[in-house]
Amino acid sequence: MSGARFRLAPLDQAHERASFRCGSEPLDAYFQRQVTQDIRRNVTACFVALTRQQRIAGYYTLASASMLLADLPATFGRKLPRYPSVPAVRMGRLAVDQTFQGGGLGAALLADALARAARSEIAAYALLVDAKDESAAAFYRHHGFITLVDAPLALFLPLATAAASIAGRSA
Ligand SMILES: CC(C)(COP(=O)(O)OP(=O)(O)OC[C@H]1O[C@@H](n2cnc3c(N)ncnc32)[C@H](O)[C@@H]1OP(=O)(O)O)[C@@H](O)C(=O)NCCC(=O)NCCS
Repeated sequence: MSGARFRLAPLDQAHERASFRCGSEPLDAYFQRQVTQDIRRNVTACFVALTRQQRIAGYYTLASASMLLADLPATFGRKLPRYPSVPAVRMGRLAVDQTFQGGGLGAALLADALARAARSEIAAYALLVDAKDESAAAFYRHHGFITLVDAPLALFLPLATAAASIAGRSA
């Protein structure tokens, strides 16, 4: 698995971000120019995958969020208390440098984000993602994510489902 080739760590000032290219200009620009300000202001956390040479091969961001119960498909909403919203963790961005795409790193970053959210002491019902386009949404659906009602580019995966799948893989 790519876990052997990459080390995952919180983004650090020492990491070189300028050469990161994932094929999406907004995702590159955010990573190069905005993310450190967002971290300083406590509105996002950012984790990176590093090669042995300390090159950044991928990144993702996490922040607290909430989901309206009305946005969940009825089969999920019915199993939850009748609160207007439930807590969630939002993975606002996920990107792999073009050099490393197609080798399993995107899936490894997603698994790391799910595991990080699932082991937090702060309760969250699901990991929520905003796909930038239909191709990104297909990537998330491939990994079991479910589309919110009337929002085809917003998807979620209950953390209980993710925890069961992670436990199944390590068994
Ligand atoms: C989308 C992205 C993160 C995927 O990362 P990656 O390292 O190339 O993907 P992986 O090699 O880990 O793919 C893992 C699995 O997802 C599948 N997959 C990858 N991209 C997919 C897509 N667009 N649609 C459906 N499935 C996809 C792969 O076929 C693979 O399946 P398998 O495990 O059954 O063999 C990466 O291509 C990227 O950074 N793209 C540009 C930015 C972007 O679109 N970000 C998405 C968030 S908005």
